[in-house]
Amino acid sequence: MERKVTVPDLQRMKEAGTRITALTAYDFPFGRIADAAGIDVILVGDSLGMVVQGLDTTLPVTVEETIYHCRMVARARQRALLVGDLPFLSYQVSVPDAIRNAGRLIKEGGAEAVKLEGGLVMAETIRALAAVDIPVMGHVGLTPQSVHRMGGHRVQGRRRGRGPGARDRVLADALAVEQAGAFAVVLEGIPLDLAAQITARLAIPTIGIGAGPHCDGQILVLHDVLGLYDRLTPKFVKRYAELGRTATDAIAEYAREVRGGAFPDEAHSFLLRAEEAPAPGGAGAENGPGGAGADHGPGGTGAENGPGRGARRRHRAVA
Ligand code: KIV
Repeated sequence: MERKVTVPDLQRMKEAGTRITALTAYDFPFGRIADAAGIDVILVGDSLGMVVQGLDTTLPVTVEETIYHCRMVARARQRALLVGDLPFLSYQVSVPDAIRNAGRLIKEGGAEAVKLEGGLVMAETIRALAAVDIPVMGHVGLTPQSVHRMGGHRVQGRRRGRGPGARDRVLADALAVEQAGAFAVVLEGIPLDLAAQITARLAIPTIGIGAGPHCDGQILVLHDVLGLYDRLTPKFVKRYAELGRTATDAIAEYAREVRGGAFPDEAHSFLLRAEEAPAPGGAGAENGPGGAGADHGPGGTGAENGPGRGARRRHRAVA
């Protein structure tokens, strides 16, 4: 394993001009795959509500669910920095709530940092989390938890002005997140020139998603990268594989073979060992009690024998 990625490493990477790779993951197998592929930051995003749970928005995701998914990825991850996403209403109500819930993602979920959405209005919360040594990744621009305010998952930072979602406000949000003590900030769904301006202004790394090529790093949702989610395909998504199609084809082939009798075949079946073979024409050859098959006992004694008489018949047919 290469050396473990830590929070301070991301700062060093920005300073060295090394681009940061980030990806979401929500379970053990994909956590292992992302880690083995050398991803620097794995985010257990609240996008799990959409790509894993099949919801229309991220809003219903709970702290318990996030902890559950964090734990699975934490068991898999060896090198990557693991960030847990604070779900809607787990940090907006009060600072003590935010500390408690962020602490749970770390303590129970195994995350090493948390992410939360919002800029100026979240500065006090970020400051309080940083003060108790919970590293915070900010998230400004298109913030999916603001879907109703934005009127959908819409690009932000196009309009001039300081109102929510306006260009100067996105910049002010990013600056506020940095000043409050965040160690990195996600810039989502903003024009690439604004992302470039923010990246140049901030000392902390910016991680883009739908923010163009000038950020210090890039994140995407795993299911988008692998072609496992097609309900929504934003312009910024690049699909590097079509695993959804591959999986459907594989399962359809399995179903065809089962229906047609091609699977299971002898190669995927258990055979009687030579010493277990019934004597030709011997007593009990037909599985009578006490016969050659009696050593399997009703229900079978060894796992390879399977349960009962049906399993013995199958063995005989292939022995
Ligand atoms: O929830 C998520 O997956 C995210 C990333 C898209 C940044 O917030």
